[in-house]
Amino acid sequence: MEMIASALICSVLVLCLSHLCHPLSVDYYEKKCPKAEAAVTDSVKQAMASDNTVPAALLRMHFHDCFIRGCDASVLLNSTKNNAAEKVGPPNVSLHAFYVIDSAKKAVEELCPGVVSCADILALAARDAVALSGGPTWDVPKGRKDGRVSKATDTRQLPFPTFNFAQLHQSFSQRGLTVEDLVALSGGHTLGFAHCSSFEKRIHNFNSTHDVDPSMHPSFAANLQRVCPVNNKAKTAGTTMDTTPVKFDNAYYKLLGKGKGLFLSDAALMTDSKAKALVLKFAGSDEEFREAFVKSMIRMSGLGGGGGVEVRLDCKVVR
Ligand code: HEM
Ligand SMILES: *[C@@H]1O[C@H](CO)[C@@H](O)[C@H](O)[C@H]1NC(C)=O
Ligand SMILES: *[C@@H]1O[C@H](CO)[C@@H](O)[C@H](O)[C@H]1NC(C)=O
Ligand SMILES: *[C@@H]1O[C@H](CO)[C@@H](O)[C@H](O)[C@H]1NC(C)=O
Repeated sequence: MEMIASALICSVLVLCLSHLCHPLSVDYYEKKCPKAEAAVTDSVKQAMASDNTVPAALLRMHFHDCFIRGCDASVLLNSTKNNAAEKVGPPNVSLHAFYVIDSAKKAVEELCPGVVSCADILALAARDAVALSGGPTWDVPKGRKDGRVSKATDTRQLPFPTFNFAQLHQSFSQRGLTVEDLVALSGGHTLGFAHCSSFEKRIHNFNSTHDVDPSMHPSFAANLQRVCPVNNKAKTAGTTMDTTPVKFDNAYYKLLGKGKGLFLSDAALMTDSKAKALVLKFAGSDEEFREAFVKSMIRMSGLGGGGGVEVRLDCKVVR
């Protein structure tokens, strides 16, 4: 035990010495690359103009990045001959729009070669995705470095849509995130789309006494059963995460309160008194949701404390 502890302390020291503990700062690129942020915003805007699924994809990509090995752009790496990357891990079904990060990186490399990390670009793109969808905006602390490791098997560390409250709580608190962070960040589900596989256990064969999860609103469940019939063969079938999937708003919380949360993990927020009170607060006030979301995004965006070891030149490959 003592050996493990001192090994841990040792590795933390080594990590700090190799510049891995540097704090993030809002003005990190102010001198190094003042036009970087605007270039990222332009790339996101341009991509959104022809594909309205882009913002949801970027927000989820950043979440997956931060929850595995900290926000170090591990989610962006391609597999190699000897390594299956996070991208090909099981929950990859809807991770897409990697091309947006590539075009932002290309624009930023033209301005300041080798300076802006892919992890920072992804954090900025996620912020832009929210802001350009009608959500709040905020200053993103920057200075992350890109990691060199990405493993498909690590995606098991992501929370599953079948998680109950205790499991969600554990997944977030392991990363130093609170119940308020959990509830506010789940509001990311105001954007985007989910495939049947992410929620079909709730609407068919739920358990031995109920075919449908009884916490679901009956007409909501019936609708989902139509979209996702038993033995549904269409792998692309699914539904939007809330009723306004390209608008960043608090509709997600309003629906949760009515038994119209899509995943078990969404509905689970109504099963804990503290979480439920927050859901109801955010359902009643878009302003309070926006404030809480910004606070929690900055916390999630800081996971890993700056992440990796290098600034990649191509976000898909290590240097
Ligand atoms: C609390 C635990 C969470 C679980 C269990 C979870 C799970 C999922 C699942 C299963 C999907 C649908 C995948 C599919 O069927 O294609 C999804 C979509 C999505 N998630 Fe989460 N998620 C969680 C938290 C978050 C957080 C913290 C964010 C961001 C702040 C987020 C943002 C999104 C977005 C934007 C989509 C839509 C993606 C798209 O349309 O491309 N999720 N999530
Ligand atoms: C990364 O993978 C994508 C999708 O398989 C492929 O189109 C692309 O060429 C790869 N890029 C690099 C640099 O390996
Ligand atoms: C998604 O993950 C599955 C299971 O690991 C894998 O077989 C599939 O190739 C992946 N899909 C993509 C697009 O990477
Ligand atoms: C099925 O789920 C419902 C709702 O969660 C629960 O009340 C019931 O006890 C469960 N039945 C079994 C057999 O687990």
